Amino acid sequence: MMARKITHDEEGPYVIDEDELEEQGGTVAVCQCGLSANKPHCDGSHHAVSDEDDGVVYEYSDDDDEGERTVVSDD
Ligand code: FES
Repeated sequence: MMARKITHDEEGPYVIDEDELEEQGGTVAVCQCGLSANKPHCDGSHHAVSDEDDGVVYEYSDDDDEGERTVVSDD
């Protein structure tokens, strides 16, 4: 399993209402990689994680997909 350490400081849910769904054409892509600069929406930053190795935990400086990637742990 690929994994990365992300700093996240939100304290509550992001509610996607009908108006936003309508604006997006009925589909909203929610970021699951943790690197989007437009959370909770996916902005394509997940492409940076496509070559991560299984069993390794990575960290990206400033949680930026273009930031330096370092290995946090390698089990
Ligand atoms: S899933 Fe995180 S930017 Fe796309």
